[in-house]
Amino acid sequence: MSRDDAHRVRVDLGARSYDVHIGSGVRHLLPRIVSGLGADRVVVVSARPAGAVPPPGVPAVEVTLTDGEHDKTLGQVESLCREFAAAGLTRAGAVVSCGGGTTTDVVGLAAALYHRGVPVIHLPTSLLAQVDASVGGKTAVNLPEGKNLVGAYWQPAAVLCDTDYLRTLPAREHTNGLGEIARAHFIGTGDLRGRPLAEQIATSVAMKAAVVASDERDAGRRHVLNYGHTLGHALEVATGFRLRHGEAVAVGTVFAGVLAHELGRIDAARAAEHREVVAHYGLPTTLPDGVGVDRLVTLMRSDKKAVAHGLTFVLDGPAGPELVPDVPVDVVTRALRAMPPSPLPAGTGPVSSPG
Ligand code: GLY
Repeated sequence: MSRDDAHRVRVDLGARSYDVHIGSGVRHLLPRIVSGLGADRVVVVSARPAGAVPPPGVPAVEVTLTDGEHDKTLGQVESLCREFAAAGLTRAGAVVSCGGGTTTDVVGLAAALYHRGVPVIHLPTSLLAQVDASVGGKTAVNLPEGKNLVGAYWQPAAVLCDTDYLRTLPAREHTNGLGEIARAHFIGTGDLRGRPLAEQIATSVAMKAAVVASDERDAGRRHVLNYGHTLGHALEVATGFRLRHGEAVAVGTVFAGVLAHELGRIDAARAAEHREVVAHYGLPTTLPDGVGVDRLVTLMRSDKKAVAHGLTFVLDGPAGPELVPDVPVDVVTRALRAMPPSPLPAGTGPVSSPG
């Protein structure tokens, strides 16, 4: 284990503050964190092979889970809570999650509900989950009616983003995670191109931590984290999730630049910077083939923000990124048409898509 390159980011939320550790080997901080909580036992819920989670230093029960949207259900929350009960877990214990963003989402929600809240420690294993999903306290499961419709804010007691987990990620899954790092360029991290991966994650997490500290419950400022996501979510649905979350956000980020330029909010150079940054990280910069502009507009109209405020996007501008409501549909259509379609990335197949 080497923690020489480890980073620590504090999420400052008063009594609910916690640290996010990022670096090689940081999973081995688990027993120290469990001990610091005074936990008498833990339930480890893991979507990774045995051995991925170090011994926590107190009696532990292991529960296996599968990463993926299909397991993000209220039924799964009930199963987990029953496992917690069978293990004799009380608020004197703790839950540990290990897996991608869908795992941290569903385990986080079970921890929020069981005994009206038990501490949870996340060990995210995908780049997407390390950069975004595991930090900030949003937990959720899906309903047949839509994604993430049932959830709670439940801040973890700690997050251990061990970059060793990322070594075995498939190349496309790695690039997928870079989508959230590319969008971070435009909402506060500045240019992270060429920086070591742990630093890219840590800087993105620090940006998110500052935003969450100022608006934990998404009443305003936290919207900026959804830069590139309005079109991104529409693209995920329109492609049947063949475009992964980070890839879709990458295209949505380029689009945010094009649209902001169309609206006169940024100059051509700043719009071009969006395309350059996304391309640098090896992510798609144009719409995928076979997805109609009208379909995308329809999907974006059903976005939660759009229902209240018309077509709504987080866009860059003279005052930085902000929520822009009621964008005229003809301007949106023109910006979409300025992004000529190209084939989906190689290896495309239906996948789970935490985000
Ligand atoms: N992923 C956006 C948020 O945590 O608010």
